[in-house]
Amino acid sequence: MSEHEFPPGRRLTRRGLLAGGAVAAAAACVPTSAVSDAAGRASAGPTPLPGGDAVEPFHGVHQAGIATSPQTFAVFVGFDLRPGTDRAALTRLLRLLTDDARRLTRGEPALADTDAELALLPARLTVTFGFGAGLFKAAGAGHLAPQPLPAFKVDALQPRWSDGDLLIQVCADDRLTLAHALRVLVRDARSFATVRWAQHGFRQSPQVRAPGTTQRNLMGQLDGTVNPRPGTADFERAVWVRDGWLRGGTTLVLRRIRMDLEKWDAADRAAKEFSVGRRLDTGAPLTGHAETDEPDFAALSPSGLPVISEYAHIRRARVADPGMRILRRAYNYEDGLSSEGRPDAGLLFASYQADVARQFVPIQQRIAEADLLNQWITPIGSAVFAIPPGCSPDGWIGETLLS
Ligand code: HEM
Repeated sequence: MSEHEFPPGRRLTRRGLLAGGAVAAAAACVPTSAVSDAAGRASAGPTPLPGGDAVEPFHGVHQAGIATSPQTFAVFVGFDLRPGTDRAALTRLLRLLTDDARRLTRGEPALADTDAELALLPARLTVTFGFGAGLFKAAGAGHLAPQPLPAFKVDALQPRWSDGDLLIQVCADDRLTLAHALRVLVRDARSFATVRWAQHGFRQSPQVRAPGTTQRNLMGQLDGTVNPRPGTADFERAVWVRDGWLRGGTTLVLRRIRMDLEKWDAADRAAKEFSVGRRLDTGAPLTGHAETDEPDFAALSPSGLPVISEYAHIRRARVADPGMRILRRAYNYEDGLSSEGRPDAGLLFASYQADVARQFVPIQQRIAEADLLNQWITPIGSAVFAIPPGCSPDGWIGETLLS
């Protein structure tokens, strides 16, 4: 019996089928309230919400959505400011968007929210704002704008996925919550800015993995093993800016990196693992046994060659000083199929760091020069944003730049 033969709203889990055959399958088909009754729980009580009402605090020294444990869904939207959007207009825009974000992230409708019910399950919603070079120019503060990235020889950048004056990053554990928040924010930005691009991404859901475990990307690799850990001194140093108007903020480099999955399918497992320097099953370095084992870059094979290639991704991307690493908070993307059935897929590579030039650029340069992974990946979009600090309950995002 296929999963699709069950009426919508009745859950049949694969695990139920495997564990208990027909009996478990039948139980799994019963609506939630009836299951509760059978289990002896109060039938009148509300069904427990598995995370729908979970809230990520909006206010604070830093904006949410960076140190926040990654939610399942994300959308990154790049806007172009409309001509004439000056400093005063930017202030109005950011006050308005901050108010929307403040309400929506705590599960309240935004002002004039036409579908208020859709705002009631925040599902760890976060809304994060970023400023591109054009916004600084419009604000008369061009000298503070983030520097553009140099060109890298692997780049095949398309304007439709690149640049932008204003970024809104929305993340949530529920796709409907995300869609509603996005609709409200884009509506309120509309008279000031037009959408340049919108990039949707997803990660493995926390419902299918133990908390704290590393997600897999669409190439099947454990992705995110070596990353600054929130709450550590290294994270503070690597991610947050320590002085100036951006104090408590950070920077985001967003790269849309296409994966050639058909070519990847054609590679054998040994070549795939050799290209990264880690095993596909456990994520362990080729010189170790567990995911968190330190790679031994000096180890040689019996034939005298490095076990982890000179061109392996983890060697090219390695940064010796943990306080100088980048924070990778990547999302997978999969935007449908071509008529031949080829997926348009890859990674929305979101890198947060205190200093783009000192942290991101040297890594990307080493990867662009030589990295075995380049056989299957191509950067097709690129944008850099300053991510201003967070704000207090009576403040707004951007006030340290604009007020
Ligand atoms: C589609 C593109 C990419 C894929 C599939 C990919 C995949 C991986 C994988 C599987 C690992 C090993 C596990 C881990 O530590 O997370 C890794 C590590 C890493 N990647 Fe990537 N990566 C991509 C692009 C990039 C880019 C563009 C950068 C930076 C410019 C980057 C920087 C890093 C860093 C810093 C590490 C940790 C290296 C270390 O062990 O110290 N990656 N990546």
